[in-house]
Amino acid sequence: MTDGFHAERCLAVTLEWWTPTLPCLLAGTFLLFILKQWMAPLHDSLSETARVRFDNEVTKMKKIPAFSPILSVRDPGVRQGLKTIFRSVGAVLLLSVAVSGGHDAQAQEMTITDSSFKCLNDMVKVRHFYVDNLLGNRKATIAVAEKGTGTYPPGSVVQLVPGEVMVKHPEGFNSATRDWEFFELDVSKEGTRIRKRGFAEVVNRFGGNCFACHVKAKPEFDMVCEIDHGCDPIPITRRMLAALQKTDPRCAAPAALTEDDQHALKELDEVMKTMRAPAAPK
Ligand code: HEC
Repeated sequence: MTDGFHAERCLAVTLEWWTPTLPCLLAGTFLLFILKQWMAPLHDSLSETARVRFDNEVTKMKKIPAFSPILSVRDPGVRQGLKTIFRSVGAVLLLSVAVSGGHDAQAQEMTITDSSFKCLNDMVKVRHFYVDNLLGNRKATIAVAEKGTGTYPPGSVVQLVPGEVMVKHPEGFNSATRDWEFFELDVSKEGTRIRKRGFAEVVNRFGGNCFACHVKAKPEFDMVCEIDHGCDPIPITRRMLAALQKTDPRCAAPAALTEDDQHALKELDEVMKTMRAPAAPK
C-alpha cells in the first residue's frame, strides 16, 4: 500500500461525507436564522398550554447545573457564540413544541379557556367538592374522587369554591405539579373569566400559593387537600364552604340560602376582611 492510495481514499471519504452534509448544515443554519427572527411572534402565537410548556422547558434548561459555568464565561466572543447556540437550541425546542402541539393536539394537550368552566351545579358533587372532566372521562374522575385516593385522570376538574379550580393535564405535562394546573377565576352572571393560571407560581388573591399548599398532600391523594391529607389548613370552615357553593353567580337558578347559610356567609365575610387586609403603607 502506498501513501498516495491512503490520501486518495481519505479524500474520497471526505467528499462522500461532505457532499450531503454541507448542504444540510447550510440549510440548518439558514433555518435557524429565520427561526430566530420569528421566535417572538411564534412564541406569542402558540396556544396557552404549549406556551406554558415551552416556558417550563426553558426554565428547566436554565436550572441544569452544567450550564451555569458555561454561562459565566467572560470572553465576549465566546459568550456571543454560546448565546447564539442557546438561542438556536431554544428555537428548535420552540419549533418542536409548536409542531407536536399542532399535530397531536387532542392527545397531547387540552385547550382550557374561560368557557371550560361552568356553574358548580352542572358539575358532579362528591362529598363536599365538585368534579368534572374536560376530556369526556367523567366516570374515571368520579371514581377517584369517590375512592378518595389515587391519581386523577387527564381532563379532571376539581373545584371547591366558585373562584378556585385545578385541572389535570395529560400525563407528563408538568411533573412538578403532577400535571395539575391551578386557576383563579372571576365569576359573575356573565360567566367565568380566568384571572390567573399556571403551575407552581399561581398565588390567590389572599397571597396564598396554590401549589405550595397543595403539594403537602400525601402522595396517594394526588395534591387534593381535603381536611386531613397534610396540607396547611384554610380559615374557611366546611359550613362556610357549603354556603359559598350556593352563591355561584354563574348558575341560572342559585340554590336558596337557609338562615344558617346566611350566618355562615357573614362569618366568612369577617374572615375575608382579615385575609384581604393589605399591609398598611406608612
Ligand atoms: C393555605 C393553603 C392553601 C392554599 C394557598 C390554597 N389551597 Fe386549595 N385547599 C386547601 C385546603 C386545606 C383544602 C381543603 C378544604 C376542605 O376540604 O375543607 C383545599 C381545597 C381545594 C380544592 C378542592 C379539592 C381539595 O384539594 O380538597 C381545590 C380545587 C383547591 N383547593 C384549589 C386551590 C387553588 C386553585 C388555589 C390557588 C388559587 C388554592 N387551592 C390555594 C389549602 C390551600
